[in-house]
Amino acid sequence: MKKIFITRKIPQKAVDFLSERFDVEYNDSDIMLPKEELIGRVKDKDGVLCLLTDNIDSDVISAASGKCRIFANYAVGYNNIDVKAASSKGIIVTNTPGVLDDATADLAWALLFAGARRVVEADRYVRDGKFDSWKATLFLGMDISGKTMGVVGSGRIGTNFAKKAKAFGMDIIYTSRHRSERFEEETGGRHVSKEELFRESDFVSLHIPLTEGTMHYVSERELDMMKNSSVLINTARGPVVDEKALVKALQSGQIWGAGLDVFENEPQIEKELYSMDNVVLLPHIGSATVGTREEMGMIAARNIADVLGGKAPENCVNP
Ligand code: DGY
Repeated sequence: MKKIFITRKIPQKAVDFLSERFDVEYNDSDIMLPKEELIGRVKDKDGVLCLLTDNIDSDVISAASGKCRIFANYAVGYNNIDVKAASSKGIIVTNTPGVLDDATADLAWALLFAGARRVVEADRYVRDGKFDSWKATLFLGMDISGKTMGVVGSGRIGTNFAKKAKAFGMDIIYTSRHRSERFEEETGGRHVSKEELFRESDFVSLHIPLTEGTMHYVSERELDMMKNSSVLINTARGPVVDEKALVKALQSGQIWGAGLDVFENEPQIEKELYSMDNVVLLPHIGSATVGTREEMGMIAARNIADVLGGKAPENCVNP
C-alpha cells in the first residue's frame, strides 16, 4: 500500500479519504514539525500533504525524492515550497485554488469594515466599561460607499473581493501586470499603474502571491504615496508588505489604518503593532471557514489520489 504523510492537523474528512486508500501517517498534534523531523518523516513516503507552515525546501525535497511523487499543499499560496527543486526531482506540487476565494475575500472585507469603522477598538471600549453615553464624535470612522477601492492583483480572490466592492457602490481601480478582461467585466474596475493606485485609493487591498518580485511590494515609497485617510488591507502574504515601514506609516499618521491577517515573520509580529489602535490584527484566518477548510483538505487529498493513481492532478503548479 502506498504511504502518505500528513504533516499537521487538518479537517478529518480528508484524513478519512486518504486513509481509505493509502497507508497514512498523520501528525495530528497541530504542532509544526522541526525540520529534522520533517526530513525523517517524508523519507519513505509516496506522497505528502503539507501546510503553509511547513518549509518544504531543497533539503526536505531531497530527502523525499526517489519515492515521493507529490507534495500537496493545503493552501492556494505555495511560497513555502521550493517548486523548482521539486520539479528537478520529478515531484509534483499542487495547491488548492478556487475554493477559498469567497472566504478570503470576505475576510478582507471584515478587515476593511473593522479598520474603517474602528470596530475592534470600539468593542474594547464597551468591554472596558467605558460606554457611558452616545456621543456625536465617538469613534468616527471612514465612509466606504462612494470611495475609491484599490485592488492589487486581478486573480480569483482579487476579482471576488472587487465584485463585493461594486455592491458597496465603490469606484474600483486595480493594478496587475496585465489588464484582465474578466476582472473588468465582472467588477467594472479600471486598470491603473501601481503609483496611481496608491495615490488615488481610499482603501488598498492586496491580493497577490508572494514571489521574489512581490517581496516588499508595499514599502515606504508606496506608503508615502497613500492618502492620510487611507486604510491598507493585507490578506495575501506578510512579506508583501514591509512591516517596519508600515509601523512607521501608522505611527506618523501617514496612513489612517490597516487590517492585517498576515505578517512578515509569522507568527512573530512587529511589537509596536500590538499597542496600536489603528490596526486590526488577525492570526492568518483568511480561509478559515468550516466548509472552506474541509474542501481545501479534499482538494489536496484528491490531488494525491490522482497522482498516485497515475492521473494528472487538477492543481499542479510546477511550470
Ligand atoms: C492560502 O491558502 O494560501 C491561505 O493563506 C490559507 O488561509
